[in-house]
Amino acid sequence: MKKLYFFLTVVASLIVWRNAIAQNIIKPGETWPDDKGNHIQAHGGGIIQLGKYYYWYGEQRRQGLDTNYRYVSCYRSKDLVNWKFMGDALQLSDPEQLGRRWVLERPKVYYNRNTKTYVMYFHLDDAKYKLARVGVATSKKPQGPFTYVKSFRPLERESRDIGQFIDDDGTAYLVFESRPTKGFFIAKLSDDYLSVEKEVCLVNAPLEGGAIIHYNGLYYAIGSELTGWRPNPNRYATATSLAGPWSEFKDIAPPATNTYSSQSTMMLKVTGSKTTTVIFMADQWRPKTQWDSRYLWMPLEIGDGKLVLPQPQPWQLNIKTGEAGVVNSPAE
Ligand code: DGJ
Repeated sequence: MKKLYFFLTVVASLIVWRNAIAQNIIKPGETWPDDKGNHIQAHGGGIIQLGKYYYWYGEQRRQGLDTNYRYVSCYRSKDLVNWKFMGDALQLSDPEQLGRRWVLERPKVYYNRNTKTYVMYFHLDDAKYKLARVGVATSKKPQGPFTYVKSFRPLERESRDIGQFIDDDGTAYLVFESRPTKGFFIAKLSDDYLSVEKEVCLVNAPLEGGAIIHYNGLYYAIGSELTGWRPNPNRYATATSLAGPWSEFKDIAPPATNTYSSQSTMMLKVTGSKTTTVIFMADQWRPKTQWDSRYLWMPLEIGDGKLVLPQPQPWQLNIKTGEAGVVNSPAE
């Protein structure tokens, strides 16, 4: 009897503890604890939805990592708020003899239904950002371990920041900034996703942190200026076809805020039973303490060719209905 009582007490405490740490508010710019209470490490990241789960991959930059390696983290969630750390999906040592300060940034993962393979792309570079290639790694499981396959220059072009876009019909695209062309490319991936098949468009705007969304019959592209880790006014354009023509680029937020001190990494569409919300996902970089870099996620005001990033504030998302709303702070 005593044993049963003890067991029930433990179970009850676990339930209380679990509920206490379950989160229901997204707080832009604050630390974002994972299931173990550690600040999420998925910088410059991307998200894919597979069944009832979302997977968030990004640059793993926690303190104490072996500096011979670069790491890509994987988190899993059903509600986009509570994230379980699934481990480091990729742990890679300098794959192309690039030197001690080689660079792996902005990983993005696609799931190929034909080959049942998870295909990861990332920006691979040397310390001076001269290599300008993508790296590719694959895995049979979403959480990895991913195995390095190769690196190349997509369309034989210099490629630095990459973005991921999967259209409503499932077609997968790589977005990459290409400095010499003063623009960024939208390129279709091959059937097995292991290479880039063809150019869809060169968008004539020298922007990085490229992100695209297809919303209500219109494509919206977002990008940031080339100012290193420092934030700048991110801008957007629209087109009825991915191939363009693209409209002029306009500010997504008051320029003086420098996109509320953030840089775009992706836009995520959440379609629920009542409505569709498009989330702007961005990084607030802290280059000297990268493990403490923050995330700015906000639902966008989007439609009819207009896109506005509202002033960041805590908000909630109903993953079933797709509704999002800011959380009203209690009256003072
Ligand atoms: C801006 C890019 O968007 C980041 O991913 C990173 O490459 C920094 N530049 C490095 O300065």
